[in-house]
Amino acid sequence: MQIGGATIIAGVIGWPIKHSLSPRLHNYWFQKFNRDGVYIPLPVPEGMLSRVLEALPYMGFRGVNVTVPHKRAAFRHVQRHDEAAARMAAVNTILVHGDGSLEGRNTDGWGFIRNLDTQAPQWRRLRQRPVVLIGAGGACRAIAFTLVDQGVRELRIVNRTQARARELAQDIARTSAYEPLAIGWPERHTALEDAGLLVNGTSLGMRGAPPLDLTLDALPGEAVVVDIVYQPLETDLLRQAAARGHPTVDGLGMLLQQAVPGFSWWGGVTPVIDEEARRTMVEGLPL
Ligand code: ATR
Repeated sequence: MQIGGATIIAGVIGWPIKHSLSPRLHNYWFQKFNRDGVYIPLPVPEGMLSRVLEALPYMGFRGVNVTVPHKRAAFRHVQRHDEAAARMAAVNTILVHGDGSLEGRNTDGWGFIRNLDTQAPQWRRLRQRPVVLIGAGGACRAIAFTLVDQGVRELRIVNRTQARARELAQDIARTSAYEPLAIGWPERHTALEDAGLLVNGTSLGMRGAPPLDLTLDALPGEAVVVDIVYQPLETDLLRQAAARGHPTVDGLGMLLQQAVPGFSWWGGVTPVIDEEARRTMVEGLPL
């Protein structure tokens, strides 16, 4: 690729950012669609975000993705936002408009649902049943808001720190007539009773993190099991679930899907998530 004066510039802001797979994906798409563009990692420490965001329009950026730990703070530094970002008070995608203004979007929940619809469409039938979400951190926020928007009748948020689950449940109740249940850590095994969908939204089970200690005995056989962890692609949770015959969905699909709206903005093409895109990402994962 030849970088020139007209090259479109986009990137991802995070700290640390070294392990992000986003540059790999967006640069693959620029190349695939024959666009003159480049996507770069931007290591921005906490406390420096506002200065970097302010400078983006003057540095020719068409847009950026925002990741840990900046999603909440970035929300406060954009002039406009879409509905999802406004409700979650967090952004993962920023579009730089021609007049220099910044628009924040949140595509995490959208990516989660798109991926679920692609990999396990039967979840839509099962959403009449309780849904169990493990975790109440940043990723779970987007997932929980979106599940309620998608018509889930009973959402059980299980978190080690129950107060944090309660806080998330109350935030959801403020903007949608439903308040999810906040369940404590010791009840996690029995919380699976009657569920149609189980989602691990924590980093437990990731390479280098502690395992997710969860017994699936109470989970009905047809329930779909989703893990947002993608390193390894088949986590212990997914392996256990598959052995019990549950349909399983790994974490890579959400990562791919949430990237689509950003690329359509700076790349001018809406990519389809296919096997080749998945393979490109898998090849970037450390062994
Ligand atoms: P992220 O923004 O990536 O979701 P986070 O906000 O730090 O990260 O959230 C991590 C989630 O994993 C939280 O739900 C956290 O539980 P707490 O709210 O109690 O901290 C959960 N988590 C992390 N380590 C855990 C552990 N050893 N056991 C149980 N839950 C854990």
